Amino acid sequence: MELRDKHIVLGLTGGIACYKSAELCRLLIKQGASVQVVMSAAAERFITPLTMQALSNRPVYTSQWDERQPNSMAHINLGRDADAVLIAPCSADFMSRLAHGAADDLLSLLCLARPAHRVGLLLAPAMNREMWAHPATQRNAAQLQRDGAQVLGVGSGEQACGETGDGRMLEPQDLLCELIAFFQPKRLAGQRVLVTAGPTYEAIDPVRGITNLSSGKMGFAIARAAREAGAEVTLVAGPVALSTPRGVTRVDVRSAREMHVAAMAHAAQASLFIATAAVADWRPAHSAEHKIKKNGSGIAPQLQFVENPDILATLAHSDWAKSGSLLCVGFAAESEDLLANAQAKRLRKGVPLLVGNIGPATFGQDDNALLLVRADGVQEFARAPKLELARRLVEVCATMLGAGAPGVAA
Ligand code: CTP
Repeated sequence: MELRDKHIVLGLTGGIACYKSAELCRLLIKQGASVQVVMSAAAERFITPLTMQALSNRPVYTSQWDERQPNSMAHINLGRDADAVLIAPCSADFMSRLAHGAADDLLSLLCLARPAHRVGLLLAPAMNREMWAHPATQRNAAQLQRDGAQVLGVGSGEQACGETGDGRMLEPQDLLCELIAFFQPKRLAGQRVLVTAGPTYEAIDPVRGITNLSSGKMGFAIARAAREAGAEVTLVAGPVALSTPRGVTRVDVRSAREMHVAAMAHAAQASLFIATAAVADWRPAHSAEHKIKKNGSGIAPQLQFVENPDILATLAHSDWAKSGSLLCVGFAAESEDLLANAQAKRLRKGVPLLVGNIGPATFGQDDNALLLVRADGVQEFARAPKLELARRLVEVCATMLGAGAPGVAA
């Protein structure tokens, strides 16, 4: 229920993507929002107000002359009650009219009349690729951003007209994520965050390898929470079957050495590094070129191991961390004695904050419990969904960043 107590005005303008707005409306309501649908005359050509009324469970407004409001001022009343106005789909024509402050139908009037300081305006453009790429549309998009609207961008792919390119409306699920993100405090605005997540895979031969049970869910939740908080986020992910959080740049890797290279390449630009990955400590000294076969002797092959680079320890001891330009946060997946292990690991890794969790109790789960260990004490986050914990952790990191270079000493 990410949108509990939120009241959203969902505006529809003319475009074939109106059919997706029915699903979007349903998703918003499932997350606890109340939704007031307002449609332009062009939108009514693509989907009926009846459909949107049935989904939102509220009468739909289409005209500024609607007399159902006691004072006949739908354009004022509807905007005053809202927490945000989301226009999806937002046509090229509507963007142009908004950019010029047009006020000749209910939806444009409502956007202009809303108290902009407390009612956000989010736009989900949808149009043919040429229309989207046209300088006039791009100029309008830039102007609307300057005026305080959030232009959510477009999807790419096959279009209703048969052409392929940029301009599709984002999928309802992506729009839902954007709206949820909109309401999160921007504690990491201007920061660049690097996250490692998931397991690594160390090849024994071309068909076998050594890995672990990390699902990557905690790291992906942290990447999402950091992006929601306004950061630019790079997520270096081991082999996991998770979709990339919206707005996050993902770098896929397989082995610990690949993860190390990717993390080092992005660390210079980062101000916060959160190492959630369950990196294999060891890898086979030799990865066989071909599949190792049974030779019938009954004797198992002997594997030799060499140590992998420790990404967190390397970055925690780097000049970036020492100069205070990079805050490093470690995780510890333990199976017992969490407090003592986490405290010892924090000092061993040389990080100001180490987050302990019980690996077998959390791997693959959607919730977790965390123990935050710092030089000045410990803090417990009770069992909760990983996204909720990630948001709380991001807040702690934002406070540490704001307080300057934090200490490692016990
Ligand atoms: N880590 C890392 N690179 C490694 C090993 C670990 O970056 N080669 C990071 C993990 O991402 C995590 C922290 O170090 O943030 C602790 O990882 P963990 O596997 O719990 O600790 P280890 O150093 O492997 O210690 P041990 O195996 O003794 O528990």
